[in-house]
Amino acid sequence: METSILRKKFLYFLVFAGSIALLIIFIPFIEPPLKDYFSSVFGARDPRMGDPAGILFEQILRVFKVILWMALIISTVRFLNYLIFSTALRSNAYEISSLIRNVFSIIVYIVAFFVIFNSQYPGVDLAALFTTSTILGVIIGLALQDTLGNLFAGLAIQADQPFQIGDVVKIPGKAEGIVENISWRGVKIRTFQNKLVVISNSVLGKDAIEVAPRDNLNARTLFFNTLYSNSPAKTILSVREVVRQVENVSQKMRPVVRVKNLGDNGIDWEIKYWLEDYSKYNDTDALIRQRIWYVFQREKIDFAYPTRTIYIENKPAEAGFVEANNNIIFERLDKVPIFAPLSDRETRKLADACRVRIFAPGESIVRQGQKGNSMFVIHRGSVKIQITEDGVSQTLQNLREGDIFGEMALLTGEPRTATVVAEDETEVFEIRNRSLKPILEANPELVKSLSDIIEERRAYHHEATPDDKTQQQPDKTKVFDSIKKFFRLKH
Ligand code: CMP
Repeated sequence: METSILRKKFLYFLVFAGSIALLIIFIPFIEPPLKDYFSSVFGARDPRMGDPAGILFEQILRVFKVILWMALIISTVRFLNYLIFSTALRSNAYEISSLIRNVFSIIVYIVAFFVIFNSQYPGVDLAALFTTSTILGVIIGLALQDTLGNLFAGLAIQADQPFQIGDVVKIPGKAEGIVENISWRGVKIRTFQNKLVVISNSVLGKDAIEVAPRDNLNARTLFFNTLYSNSPAKTILSVREVVRQVENVSQKMRPVVRVKNLGDNGIDWEIKYWLEDYSKYNDTDALIRQRIWYVFQREKIDFAYPTRTIYIENKPAEAGFVEANNNIIFERLDKVPIFAPLSDRETRKLADACRVRIFAPGESIVRQGQKGNSMFVIHRGSVKIQITEDGVSQTLQNLREGDIFGEMALLTGEPRTATVVAEDETEVFEIRNRSLKPILEANPELVKSLSDIIEERRAYHHEATPDDKTQQQPDKTKVFDSIKKFFRLKH
């Protein structure tokens, strides 16, 4: 395709420039006889009057020669322009701006005109004519004021290159679209409605322009909302996965799904994603919104709509309560090995006194060094046990469903020995000091198994941080006794 156009252009150029060149070569040969003929037909009969017709013929021929030479130069420059800029220098990424091509051509035309004019009229100093003619200068200056302003602004844009052909630009209040052409007059932008907007360079120079370069990973943000009853962790996972799979979403960067606001009607979310081809962002946004609808249907997540929820409460609500009911708590506690010695009645009593609490991934449930008067049973999710010594943190262990933590501070009265961080969305049952006391009182075995656990964990701790003086040496009887003392147990 490209080569056939080139061949055609070359043929036209050859025919056109060849004919002009032939004319220029033949003019000197036909000039004298033509001049004689012209003088004899139109010349004065009186020899004293000289040969005005011959002189007129010479002048006309000179102008004609200037025109011929200029035509030859213009056609050559245009052909070379096409050859150099459109074919040879054309890279895949960008076309050479037409402004540069035009400026290059105009310089060649001006130089050529000066040379040709001088060769035909050696006596006339063209440069001096231009420089000394003030009136001409003023007239041209006034006439070209805007044009020159645009030209220089265009040259500044070219030098600075804030955008290239193919980039998506947004000029607030004026246009948004893809840059199609940068000329000496202005920039042509193809809008997303397939219209052309031309903005002059001088106007462009004064405005703030938002550019999304073609070879850049450009990001977009989208918004949606969900009901407060939907789990944020689940929403993040589901939405991130569907966004990732949408065509034109870059695989180089993981989409970000985050809570933007806790709004009146629900949780307001923001999605940030990166595009392969930014110019198609409208389609990509639409596809993402569509996929979110489908994933919400599958995962039973609800969009928030303007709501006003009226709660009629029979008892004061406690923050952090979720829907796990006492039966579920009972079943969970019943499966925890250390509570095995408890009777069903005792386990039920403990379950009734439990608080259900839910934590986001990364949230700390208890913090090292803090006072604590409750222990926890993991119902769902997982946690990591982290200790920090001299500013350095290390993870000692991971605990999961059915495991307990927080027993050390609860049973000994000492500060929390570690920070416990939720790894996934984690639901725990909190057992407080006052509800545990009667059960410990009635179950010496439970005290024994809890002190064993504490012992084991302390030993682990001691191994991990041998230099930590605050950690006590593990000693079985000591732990057992201190629990008894702390809870004022009689047995
Ligand atoms: P407590 O000290 O109350 O608070 C932090 C909790 O982390 C602690 O109780 C234990 O339940 C738990 N913990 C501390 N060290 C370990 C360990 N080595 N393995 C498992 N759990 C631990």
